[in-house]
Parts: sequence; structure tokens; C-alpha cells
Amino acid sequence: MEPELIRNIRLLLVDDEADFRGTLAKRLLKRGIAAHQAGQGEACLALLANHPMDVVVMDVKMPGMNGIDALHHIRERHTETEVILLTGHADTRDGVEGIKAGAFDYLTKPVEFDHLLSKIIQAYDKILGKKQKIEAVAYKARIEQQMIATERLAALGTLAAGVAHEINNPLAIIKEAAGYLSSLLQKRELTDMPRKAVFEKVLQKIETSVKRARIITHQLLGNVRKSESILAEVDVIQLVEETIQLVRREAEDKDIAVALQAADGLKPIWADPNQIRQILINLLSNAIQATPEEGRIAIQVESTDGGISIAVIDNGAGIPKENLEKIFEPFFSTKSPGEGTGLGLFVTREIVDKFGGTVEVVSRMGHGTQFTVQIPNRR
Ligand SMILES: Nc1ncnc2c1ncn2[C@@H]1O[C@H](COP(=O)(O)OP(=O)(O)OP(=O)(O)O)[C@@H](O)[C@H]1O
Ligand SMILES: [Mg+2]
Repeated sequence: MEPELIRNIRLLLVDDEADFRGTLAKRLLKRGIAAHQAGQGEACLALLANHPMDVVVMDVKMPGMNGIDALHHIRERHTETEVILLTGHADTRDGVEGIKAGAFDYLTKPVEFDHLLSKIIQAYDKILGKKQKIEAVAYKARIEQQMIATERLAALGTLAAGVAHEINNPLAIIKEAAGYLSSLLQKRELTDMPRKAVFEKVLQKIETSVKRARIITHQLLGNVRKSESILAEVDVIQLVEETIQLVRREAEDKDIAVALQAADGLKPIWADPNQIRQILINLLSNAIQATPEEGRIAIQVESTDGGISIAVIDNGAGIPKENLEKIFEPFFSTKSPGEGTGLGLFVTREIVDKFGGTVEVVSRMGHGTQFTVQIPNRR
């Protein structure tokens, strides 16, 4: 290990023999490690409470709280700290007990300095490895969150394009009509029409605005063409498992268990995997949001006549009868503006319709909700 890294080790020596501690600390300092010291198990814990340590080197036999007891406390409260125990020559049993209790390792006294130093470095190495792993996991979670956001945007894009397409027709009619009126104003019999200039100005305004609106709709339409749907052979189980991973963080935050119940021997289906994933994300995040802490969500996948059925079942709050009609409408949401756009189920229904499938909902207030999506095989 690099000397600069060794210098970073936060080390605590715990031993009731002040001389032993002092000598060890001096030798460690020569190697770049400024060790803290404590003379008892209690003092060790008090120090740790305010000064997090990477490695604790601790004698097992001490008056008052012994090393093993202190180790138990450390394991409970300071999960990131590694402990190396020092046992008497005849007390290897203590060492083994220590390892069982979560010590990094034990050395028997009298310790050989270089041996101890290399153990300390090994323990620190383990901590660094753990930290890197945690960072890697956090990085992966960030990427996954971004993916969800991107997929949502893609779905929003599809919707926006649909709206744009619909608006294009009336826009064309407005443009036509305004053009027709302009041409009428040029007619000879209207040469002396009162307030003709005002009419011309207003028509001009209409034409400029129509032009602007068309630019916007064209932009929106241009974006979708790039993401035309792609049909592929989809292993639905695998896709469901991947999607569960995508929302795992959300579920874990509320201690919600997500269980996949799948029939054996399901055949892959022909569909657009991205769109199926989008459906699953929407249903799953709705279920997670509706479910209280420690709730349960089940996903049941089974094959049907000519296709597949996916049910997402939660034991959450349920949907009031009067809302059941509205939940598939765009922008219908009971969530606060920051939390829901009200597009999840609308987009879900859009996609399912495109597949020629169905989506059904059964809900009981206070008991939970089941959304069932049926998708026919496209082959
Ligand atoms: N599993 C469920 N349990 C209870 N209510 C639900 C469930 N799924 C949907 N809802 C209700 O239906 C409404 C519409 O759902 P939808 O997914 O379309 O939008 P949203 O979740 O509010 O917002 P977002 O666009 O972010 O998904 C929700 O606001 C909620 O009231
Ligand atoms: Mg939703």
C-alpha cells in the first residue's frame, strides 16, 4: 500500500498496559500512522462515539470491559470499523471467539510489529474495498434512476407527438381560412372596406401564430420518429426481474417486498421490450406509491390464449369507485404536483391499446389494487 494511503488510516490502540501502547504508538508513528490510544474498553467506546476509526487494535484481557465485549459493541454501532484483537499466548480461544463475533483477525502476544502492521493494512484495504463497492452500487442506482427518467420522457414524447399530430389538422384549417380571408381582402369590391387595415393586421397576426405553432408541432413529431418501436423476442420473466431491479430502491426505502410469481415454462413473446418495460415501471411505481411501509407487492405472470398476462397486485390504499373511471385519463392524479403527472396509466393504456391488448383494474378500498395487463403475441 502507498505510504500516503497508510497515513490516512485512523487507528485506535486499546490496551491497559500503557508502556506497551506507548511503544507500539511510537513505532507506528515512524511508519506514518498517528494512532489514538485508550486504556480500557469503556474509554475505547467513548472515543469511538465522537471519533470514527478505521481500525481498532485491542487487547482482549483488560480490567472492566474486556476486548470481546467491546468488540460486540463496536460491531453493533460502528459497522465500518475493523477490529484486530490481541490475545495472550495461551488464550487463542479468545481469538477464535473474537472472529466469530466479527473481528477482522487476532494476533497473539507478544506481537511481532511487522506482522501487526501488515494486518492493520489488510484491514484498511478491506474497508477501502467496501467503500468502493458502496460507491459502485450508488453509481449504478443513479444510472438506473436516470434510465427511468429517460423512459418516462420517451413515453411523454410519444404522448406529445400524438397531441401534436392531432393539432396539426385544425392548424391547417386555421391557416387555410386566414389565407382565404386575406385573399378576399385583396378583391376589388373590398378596396374601400372600412377598417380594412385593421383586418389585415389581425389576419397577419393569425398567420404568424399559426406558423409558430406548426414549428412546435413539427419539432414534437420529429422526435418520435427516431424512437419507432422495435419488435423482439421478449423473455417476460427476465424483463419483469430487470424492472423490479429498476424500482428496487423506491421499494426498499419503504421496506416493501416485491415478489414475482411466475408460471413454469413461459414462452417468450414478440413485442417491443421497451414498451413492456414502460408499462411495468408505471404499474410498479404506482403500486409502491400506494402501498404503506412494509407492504407487499406481487407480480403474477402467466401465459394466456395467444399471449401473456401480467398482474401487479398491491395491498395499498385502494382506488375510490368514483376515481376508477378517471385514472386512465391524461393528467388525472391524486398526487401532489411534484410527485405525479397523471400520465403513467394513460401512457400504459396507450401502449396496451397499440399492442391490441387490455388493461383491467380491480380495487378494494383499504385492501389493495390489482392491475392486469393482457398482451397478445405479435408473431
Ligand atoms: N396501485 C394503485 N393504488 C392506488 N391508487 C392508484 C394506483 N395506481 C394508480 N392509482 C391512482 O391513479 C392515479 C393516476 O395514476 P397515474 O399513474 O396515471 O398517475 P400518477 O401516478 O398520479 O402520476 P405519474 O404520471 O407520475 O405516474 C394516481 O394518482 C392514483 O390516484
Ligand atoms: Mg403513476
